[in-house]
Amino acid sequence: MIIPTARRLEGIGEYYFSKKLDEVRKLNSQGQNIINLGIGSPDLAPSEKTIEATIKALNDPRNHGYAAYRSSPELRRAMAEWYLRIYQVKLNPDSEILPLLGSKEGILYISLAFVNPGDKVLIPNPGYPAYSSVTRLIGAEPEYYDLVDENDWFPDFKSLEKKNLTNCKMMWVNYPHMPTGKRASRKVFDNLVDFAKTHKILICHDNPYGLVLNDEAPLSIFSADPLKETCLELNSFSKAFNMAGWRVGLMAASPQVVDAVLQVKSNVDSGMFTAVQKGAIEALNNSDQWHQERNQVYRQRRQVVEKIFNCLGFTFDLKQVGLFLWARAPESIVDLQKFLDEILYEAHVFLVPGFIFGSNGSRYARSSLCADVAVLEEALRRISVWASAKKAKP
Ligand SMILES: Cc1ncc(COP(=O)(O)O)c(C=O)c1O
Repeated sequence: MIIPTARRLEGIGEYYFSKKLDEVRKLNSQGQNIINLGIGSPDLAPSEKTIEATIKALNDPRNHGYAAYRSSPELRRAMAEWYLRIYQVKLNPDSEILPLLGSKEGILYISLAFVNPGDKVLIPNPGYPAYSSVTRLIGAEPEYYDLVDENDWFPDFKSLEKKNLTNCKMMWVNYPHMPTGKRASRKVFDNLVDFAKTHKILICHDNPYGLVLNDEAPLSIFSADPLKETCLELNSFSKAFNMAGWRVGLMAASPQVVDAVLQVKSNVDSGMFTAVQKGAIEALNNSDQWHQERNQVYRQRRQVVEKIFNCLGFTFDLKQVGLFLWARAPESIVDLQKFLDEILYEAHVFLVPGFIFGSNGSRYARSSLCADVAVLEEALRRISVWASAKKAKP
């Protein structure tokens, strides 16, 4: 008996990576040894203190039951102290912080808490694909706003104002931006807050990349909305602390927003494993030196990835922040998706086509920095050989 799936799944499709990584696995099982520069999953370890605290907590039988929906006061306090230290933003640990099982789950919970079926949600094009798939899953309508290189990958407020914003409840914003690596700007945050106040829109700022390869002070959206009137912010341990598989994130917001999201969350998941919470508390106290050393590794890797894109004739902004390099294809490549598939099947290196982040990404490709320098050097070698052979073809 085949039960038809719910209508909400229509047109959503499986997450691109879930499908493409199956393809990569299949190639590997045929003995191809694909170098995967697709997903931004840190391959470096969390700090030693993080691991030690987690192991210690694992050995305590009291830590294996259900944890509190809001997580422990100790974790929320550590998160508040970290926000003050990193972003100079004051958060009340009892009412303005909600630890999450990664920020991705927050995207769903926030949308369920604030958006009705049929409402519109402003979504960056290009942007993290989960914003639009979650919006469609809950029966709302994505209203894409353009980010283009000519406008520094920032929203164009004139064209935002021209949109029909009736029933537009929320806007997803993400700086440092994925996939373009564009750094946050205080002026743009100020403009966003003005725009949101005028149109009564909740700005959801997704902020997982501020500590990766960012040589300026990381910015919180609350620098422009200190009273937390119209913004919330997601943050993540995945990239900043090399803890992607641990599933730790947080939402910072006014107590009213925290309560609304908790109403959804507490009906869906059953809290964060206490041992993970203990590790997360330690991670928040990682020294500046720990972060600098991690960034130094990424910096070396970036240089090799830059060579890969140079060898393909792509161009890129050297000031990018985050775990990726985003590069524009030369005009001579007409079908970029086909070109990247050729690299996958013939050079055995997986690079992500920019179209998966939205139509404004269609002339771009993205490479992750989550591979060892030696692996990246091998990817460079394979791609150079492949590119020379392609050029030599009549
Ligand atoms: C912009 C953006 N937001 C959110 C996430 C999800 O992060 P987390 O692991 O905290 O769920 C990612 C992960 O790649 C991302 O790139």
